[in-house]
Amino acid sequence: MPTERIVQEIRELKAAIRHHEERYYVLNDPEISDIEFDLLLRRLTEIEAAHPELVSPNSPTQRVSGRPVDSFTTVDHVEPMLSLDNAYNETEMVAFDERVRKGLGVSVDGQVGYLAELKIDGLSIALHYRDGSLVRGVTRGDGVSGEDVTSNARAIRGIPLSLKILVRGEIDVRGEVFLPRVSFDRLNAERAKAGDTPFANPRNAAAGTMRTLDASLVARRGLGVYVYQLIGDGTESTDSQVTVLERLRSWGFPVESHWCQCNGMSEVIAYCRGWADQRRVLPFDIDGVVVKVDKLSDRVRLGQTAKYPRWAMAFKFPAEQVTTQLLKIDVNVGRTGAVTPYAVLEPVQLAGTTVRLATLHNAEDIARKDVRVGDTVLVEKGGDIIPKVVKPILGRRSRVEAGSAPFVMPTVCPVCETRLERGDTEVVWRCPNHNCPAKVRQRLLHFASRRAMNIDGLGESLATQLVDKGLVRDVADLYFLTPELIQGLERMGVKSAASLVVAIENSKNRDFWHLLFGLGIRHVGEGAAELLARRFGGLSALLAASSSEIEEVVGIGPVVAESVRNFFSDLETRRLMDRLAAAGVRMDVDQVELVAEFERTLSGQTFVITGALESVSRVEARRAIEIRGGKVTGLVSTKTTCVVVGSNPGSKLERALALGVETIDERTFRKRIKLRASVEM
Ligand code: IVH
Repeated sequence: MPTERIVQEIRELKAAIRHHEERYYVLNDPEISDIEFDLLLRRLTEIEAAHPELVSPNSPTQRVSGRPVDSFTTVDHVEPMLSLDNAYNETEMVAFDERVRKGLGVSVDGQVGYLAELKIDGLSIALHYRDGSLVRGVTRGDGVSGEDVTSNARAIRGIPLSLKILVRGEIDVRGEVFLPRVSFDRLNAERAKAGDTPFANPRNAAAGTMRTLDASLVARRGLGVYVYQLIGDGTESTDSQVTVLERLRSWGFPVESHWCQCNGMSEVIAYCRGWADQRRVLPFDIDGVVVKVDKLSDRVRLGQTAKYPRWAMAFKFPAEQVTTQLLKIDVNVGRTGAVTPYAVLEPVQLAGTTVRLATLHNAEDIARKDVRVGDTVLVEKGGDIIPKVVKPILGRRSRVEAGSAPFVMPTVCPVCETRLERGDTEVVWRCPNHNCPAKVRQRLLHFASRRAMNIDGLGESLATQLVDKGLVRDVADLYFLTPELIQGLERMGVKSAASLVVAIENSKNRDFWHLLFGLGIRHVGEGAAELLARRFGGLSALLAASSSEIEEVVGIGPVVAESVRNFFSDLETRRLMDRLAAAGVRMDVDQVELVAEFERTLSGQTFVITGALESVSRVEARRAIEIRGGKVTGLVSTKTTCVVVGSNPGSKLERALALGVETIDERTFRKRIKLRASVEM
């Protein structure tokens, strides 16, 4: 039986831990070091291990507990989570103010009291508390219902598991989950090292993280949260947004502290201008300012449209741009031999990072914009990792540069000097030399990447050395490397050489479709590779298949079929496959897996997909339908069973409506076929 002393110690430890969590995650003002904090947590873990009957679900040791969930379930929000209307300039903000004044009957001289908050660039979450304890965390979803991500929400340390003050009843607190920029940089550096595609921006990284099914991964990534809305019990005697924010703060929630009460639109606009310039001083990304009518009774009077509240508006910042000097235009040779120009810039700060390189698309684009070396250029960072050169500032082209020559695309490969080629209808120039070292290097990196053969430790620097030193000429050579051969290379000790050889050895057992994808056949992505591997079962049947037999595979079009056939008809490819087989690389798939994993529930059904899907890629959606026995076509007819509608749907949606064909959104689609959102790990 636990003694009263132990119960008391647990109580004190829990209170101390929550106190320090709040100092750290909510107030941003820690009182003890990380080590001291860990000691408190460890002590509590020890006592709980000895007295499991005293472990409560809201103990800080239980933030990440239990097994990873199999999938997320969909739950309804207690009240719809509305979105916000956007304003892209000050005129639109003034128009918003006019609508509000009209709605509230405020005179020409009178001013509306607004509350301006930073618009955190993350994903919204609804946190549900019952009698002061966190019972559920739900993503926004379609606004009416979202995914139950409670286990992930519990892993975010800023989210209190129980409130500081016992609040009886049911409350819903809403806010934004985000990834601070330092955590984002660290995560992307790790991904680059592992050969994974980096996340384009912290928002995508946060959204991808919340979609993972393993809460311990969420805990490791260091997500943050800021809340701004309170619904349900506990709202009594709150009469303004200011009182709501203060109350949330007093309950132990993190509230972003730069909010500002503004009297009238001119003060709001000054706030927006200030933050558009200053936003980089913050350790997290914001994409604008949210302006809210402060008084809650006024909000009720203004009401809402089907989508947006009439009392709030999001002022969106323009994409960040800077000017800098274009030092050089270089060209890069990709895996398929595509030779693409890029800009080397005088380093400049943009959107929180130092920018040295920017994309320039292709030679024609450069000519059309008349971008020249030496120019001052305007560089923009949108949602992509690599910024782009928007245009040259012609007014800043000095006489020296005015005499500069337009960019001339090289006619030979910058690496192997083979003459470049271009198809009649193509804009991209390619190096046709199969053995061009730049292409070999890129092929190695692709082959080793996680979704292909998953060879941990084979990164950029090693691939370059292996090719430059002539140790590897194609992917099969990897399987003949010994620790002795690798050991001498830069940054390669005895230990890392040995673990690389083990990683290479392990890759031999990957299912054949990973190999097929890893070979980098043009037009063959993961989806096509898996379909082909599953249909033919292994290399020998695929080699024996004609182009039309390949095309018969549901989901494989003529372009892919032709490309696969060409690839395998090449004598050099045949030799490569022989050497891979001789090295012991697996050349077949586990067919049993297919039967065990899915039932063919969609037999005889035909689907059409229109618009962009968010939670799964199109290839995955198509594959999921086909694996379940259904068909995907590009044309809506009366024979179509169902049209899956993503964002920005095309004319297929109109046609479906005209023909009376059933249309479903992405979420319903996934639910219907029991498909998980693809998980970004
Ligand atoms: S208020 C009904 N306040 O921006 C009012 N939203 O573009 C709901 N967001 O869905 C939202 N920071 O995910 C509000 N300070 C803030 C915000 C904020 C970020 C997000 C939120 C919302 C989206 C709308």
